[in-house]
Amino acid sequence: SSPLPPSSGPAPPTSPPRARVAARTRFPSATASPHKLDSLKRPPPNGTAGSPAPPKKRKLVVFDEEAEQEANEQQKRKAKEEAQRLRPEREKLPVFQGKDAILKGIADNDTVIVLAETGSGKTTQIPQYILRSDTPCSGPRIVCTQPRHVAAISLAQRVSAECGTQTGGLVGYTVRFDNKTSRTTRLTYATDGALLAEMLGDRDLEAYDVVVLDEAHERSLRTNMLMGFLKDIQKRRKERVRVWKAEQAKSKGKAKANGVVANGEADGKKGTDERDPTELKIVVMSATIDAKRFSDFFDRAPVLYVAGRQHKVKIHYAEEPQPDFLDAALKMVYQIHTRYPPGSILVFLPGQEEIEGLAASIKSFLPSLQKEYPHAEELLVTPLYAKLHAAEQAKAFLPSPPRTRKVILATNIAETSVTIPGVKYVVDCGLAKEKRYHAGTGIDSLVTESISQSSAKQRAGRAGRETDGFCFRLYTEATYNGLEKRSQPEIQRVSLTFAILHLLASGQDDVFKFSFMDPPDVESIKFALLTLIGLNALDKRGKITPLGRQMAQLPLDPVYARVLAASFIEGCPREMIDLVSLLGSKDQLLINTSSTRDAANAARQKFVHRTGDHMMLFNILRAYEELDGKDERKQWCKDNFISFKAMSSVLDARKQLLERAQRLKLGDPDASAGDEAEPVLNALIGGLFANTALRQEDGSYRHTMTKQLVAIHHSSTLHGKKAPAIIDDELVLTTKTYARGISSIEPSQIRSKAPSLFGSSLK
Ligand code: CDP
Ligand code: MG
Repeated sequence: SSPLPPSSGPAPPTSPPRARVAARTRFPSATASPHKLDSLKRPPPNGTAGSPAPPKKRKLVVFDEEAEQEANEQQKRKAKEEAQRLRPEREKLPVFQGKDAILKGIADNDTVIVLAETGSGKTTQIPQYILRSDTPCSGPRIVCTQPRHVAAISLAQRVSAECGTQTGGLVGYTVRFDNKTSRTTRLTYATDGALLAEMLGDRDLEAYDVVVLDEAHERSLRTNMLMGFLKDIQKRRKERVRVWKAEQAKSKGKAKANGVVANGEADGKKGTDERDPTELKIVVMSATIDAKRFSDFFDRAPVLYVAGRQHKVKIHYAEEPQPDFLDAALKMVYQIHTRYPPGSILVFLPGQEEIEGLAASIKSFLPSLQKEYPHAEELLVTPLYAKLHAAEQAKAFLPSPPRTRKVILATNIAETSVTIPGVKYVVDCGLAKEKRYHAGTGIDSLVTESISQSSAKQRAGRAGRETDGFCFRLYTEATYNGLEKRSQPEIQRVSLTFAILHLLASGQDDVFKFSFMDPPDVESIKFALLTLIGLNALDKRGKITPLGRQMAQLPLDPVYARVLAASFIEGCPREMIDLVSLLGSKDQLLINTSSTRDAANAARQKFVHRTGDHMMLFNILRAYEELDGKDERKQWCKDNFISFKAMSSVLDARKQLLERAQRLKLGDPDASAGDEAEPVLNALIGGLFANTALRQEDGSYRHTMTKQLVAIHHSSTLHGKKAPAIIDDELVLTTKTYARGISSIEPSQIRSKAPSLFGSSLK
């Protein structure tokens, strides 16, 4: 498929000011008749219909162009200088020593596995080495995959800086709702999902000569799928090159026999865009875990180890089991701070809640610490978790201020995906929040679980990056010995609906035979097939339907692809494109930290909608779009505890979805249900039917399909309200199962809009 166009900000407001005032939306509050939804004032797709186009900037005299050119030149010079400045730093990275060996390995083999510690320079350097070499072919086109889109974007920026070019030039990126590549791009950092999506249009990934599968140790669902596909692609391309070469030899032979001199022109490809077929090189890169499994999967591909600069890490275990790990972590931080030499402390905790809890308790003990140890350094606490916005995350990576010890409270994102400088002490609580999926109930939930031994080793390794370090495990040695050897790969713990639909759309007719490195559970595959039948993506015999093919091409989970398809029938695609875009950034959108929760809820009260959380998201988007200018929008976001960055991602996502819906000819994406919430909720039920629940006599809710009991999460605006039936977009399992992101619906709506729920093979 052709890459998605680069995103841009919202279209400039075009209507005259008076019209804007008259059209200003009022936001229903909880008390004041919150029943009506005002229709959206989204700018028309091309910013033309109905309103005059903004006056074009007049091109002035030649002088202007010269100035522009001068500015461009200056920018280029600056970029080159920056690249020069970064050079020595790059040459100090461990992989630099292995450069020749790595390139030779790639030249001599179809597939190689490269292992090195986090921070060795795998991701930023190795693709550049290949880029500058003639290893697989001259002028190779490279794609390097990442499990997370933030990583793909920031790496493309970093590597562009190292190359002295603009992002989107020589080096670019592709992620789900954003694409910065151009005709000149030769190295693309792509999320594994984006590369899978590209395969729907470019089955054999002919756009690339080298695929670098990075962060392979994470064994994400999509990386696992890619590995299976790539093995076949490599074989097919090898065969194609062999046949092509044989034909070339034959035609050259003929030409010679006819007395024609074979030169470059005889190739017949010069001057056209068509490229000769090339073989595919695969480079698998991983932190130092599980090399043998990768090698076995890729027909015993050679493994190249890059020696890191790992120092000794002394490991201490708890003498006895700790009943309260947060309390134990607090004590540990104090002990280190008062008894051990300077150096940052990295504490691994399961999630945001625990991080906030420990941050608060460390702070509350600061005064007594100062009293008891007046000469101790200051303590600076910096949190680090995925949902934290970028500016806050960045603080964890800054060097400690003078006479200050930094304590970084992190989730497992600090385990393998980032390197934090200055860490000498690691405190490991031995727990992590993991997504777990239960096929049978279809519940996808976040649960706190014990980590594996390989995770524990990775965590300890974070202390030995720069000097010898210490790792304090808040569990006993016996507990450690009882841990699983390695973590369970994502493919065995999440819903497979996306994976199975994608396999079928890519022509894999027998999904049970697909070559997965980590084979998923057969029950999960069956459940995914049943779910897809329920969504009408497959027919009763499990064959993909035309609707299923369209769904696979939408950059959405099948459930939401179905929701979007349903919105065209319900007459509300305009609203649904907004809602689905909003849900895509839902975790980052509303800023909720424990200290600001009350203020945030009060500020956002004006957006509350009678039907619940989904329509409230609409109200937020509308209010945002009413504002003119970046500054005003930024301030508004601040006042309402809404992330400006997430809001920008929502607008980007919407633009891309709109274009995709148009390209797939799903219907008129501008059709709107106006003020009505009902059609929107009906369309939601069309895809999320498995997430509907009916209120029971005792006030609890029971899922219609699985009969699972759920409670309304306290973060929902429907918490404490009595809806006859609900639909949720997320379930969280803690002490019980909570539904989060909820709308209130009527039981009759479920019956009429989720026909597959009743009478199909799904019970
Ligand atoms: O992939 P691996 O963990 O082996 O290392 P990398 O991501 O290539 O990073 C190598 C070094 O580049 C790191 O130690 C960072 O100091 C630096 N880097 C950076 O400064 N900014 C980035 N966005 C990425 C890496
Ligand atoms: Mg890396």
